[in-house]
Amino acid sequence: VFLVGVDRVADNMPGNGEAQKASRLKGFNGRLAFAIAAAALGSAFQHGYNTGVVNAPQKLIEEWISEVQRDRTGEVPSQANVTFIFSLAVSLFCVGGMLGGCITGLVADKFGRKGGLLINNVLVFAAAILMGAAKAAGSYEMLILGRFLIGINSGLNAGLAPMYLAEIAPVHLRGAVGTVYQLVITISILLSQLFGLGSILGTPNMWPLLLSLTLLPAVFQLATLPICPESPKFTLLNSGKELEAQRGLTWLRGTIEVHDEMEEMRSEYEASKLVPKVTMKELFVNSALRSPLIICVMVMIAQQLSGINAVMFFSTKIFKMAQLTDDHAQLATLAMGTMNVIMTVISLFLVEKAGRKTLLLVGFSGMCIDTILLAICLKYASEALWISYFSIVLVIFFVIMFATGPGSIPWFLVSELFNQSARPAATSLAVCVNWTANFIVGIGFLPLQELMGGNVFFVFAILLALFVLFVLKKVPETKNKTMEEISSMFRQQSYQ
Ligand code: GLC
Repeated sequence: VFLVGVDRVADNMPGNGEAQKASRLKGFNGRLAFAIAAAALGSAFQHGYNTGVVNAPQKLIEEWISEVQRDRTGEVPSQANVTFIFSLAVSLFCVGGMLGGCITGLVADKFGRKGGLLINNVLVFAAAILMGAAKAAGSYEMLILGRFLIGINSGLNAGLAPMYLAEIAPVHLRGAVGTVYQLVITISILLSQLFGLGSILGTPNMWPLLLSLTLLPAVFQLATLPICPESPKFTLLNSGKELEAQRGLTWLRGTIEVHDEMEEMRSEYEASKLVPKVTMKELFVNSALRSPLIICVMVMIAQQLSGINAVMFFSTKIFKMAQLTDDHAQLATLAMGTMNVIMTVISLFLVEKAGRKTLLLVGFSGMCIDTILLAICLKYASEALWISYFSIVLVIFFVIMFATGPGSIPWFLVSELFNQSARPAATSLAVCVNWTANFIVGIGFLPLQELMGGNVFFVFAILLALFVLFVLKKVPETKNKTMEEISSMFRQQSYQ
């Protein structure tokens, strides 16, 4: 009923006579929406929720770790020891992410995009059980292992899901569909901040449940994704099954008129037969592949070294640096999470109009100016109340600028810049680099902030200025271009 309902809504849209709107929405229907939801909700949720979930209950978990240590040794452990164990649990999530990112290519080729996503849920079950039962079993090792496993799962998701989304989307909606991955991340970060509140699940008895809620989207994905077809591009280009690919595409488009798209895929298939599968080594030595690789990797590095997770992880601490009370700092964090979601929704529409390059430029430039002002304001926050309130506005504006483009575009850009044979290897590398940079900010920010105070934001400002220059000079516009057009653009460049 749901599918038919959404189908009707989509079908009726052109009925209002706006030809332009109709052509923009061509190819969008209830089934495609269903496939997007099945792939994105079950995967990006793990990535976002587990990014945010340990922040609010940090104190509770540390108290529990301390109790476990005391029961084991008979002595009260030092705060440094407890903090070390907690940080291990936090940061192993990113280490898992690096590993998951690295094996994305292998998994995507061996099991397919949909197949890989489905199998990946095994890790969610294992992690949810470990994290949910750690307290009852009196073992923080279980918590640490659980965080590591959900990290591997999230790293794999960050490669597989955007790849599936980019491959099933009609060309003119590829950016919007790709943005859904980031949208679900932002929603799930916000949910984790909300559920973690002391009045909801952030209590000494409920935090294990808070952590194991990550199981629900996996159940949703296992119930919905099997109904959807494998990426038709994978079915044709990797497995050579033309009829099955056509069937999948017909399902996704809700029409049998898929000749043009099939034709385009067929020519990509024929071309791919002439060249062997691209290996990791070739990405570096072949100049037609090297320049898109540098672009993807740099954009991933820029996404993380912009400092976004310094704000996501430590916002409450930053708000306190700006002289806010505990309660107000928590509220400001929720406001920030909400703005992140709202702006990502807006960017979903902007990305097909303004284009990728413009949004990246606006986002990174805005963040750069913002961090300079923030560093100055934090310095003078104790001198006047308005300055401390202005710092809060700046932190929220920082996130809004991030959500304009730098949050979503890097995830699907790699699928846009590489054709089928190079996509898995390039995705592996790009996603692995993203998690590595994420890890570096996660462990580096607090020590750097101890050392430099608010001046730490000048470091991000300098990096952001460099990223703006890079995007300006190197990143091409991919809006509305087919994969073939994009790869021939790089081939031409490499001959010049
Ligand atoms: C992006 C980043 C992630 C960050 C999130 C914040 O998805 O990759 O690390 O937490 O945006 O919205």
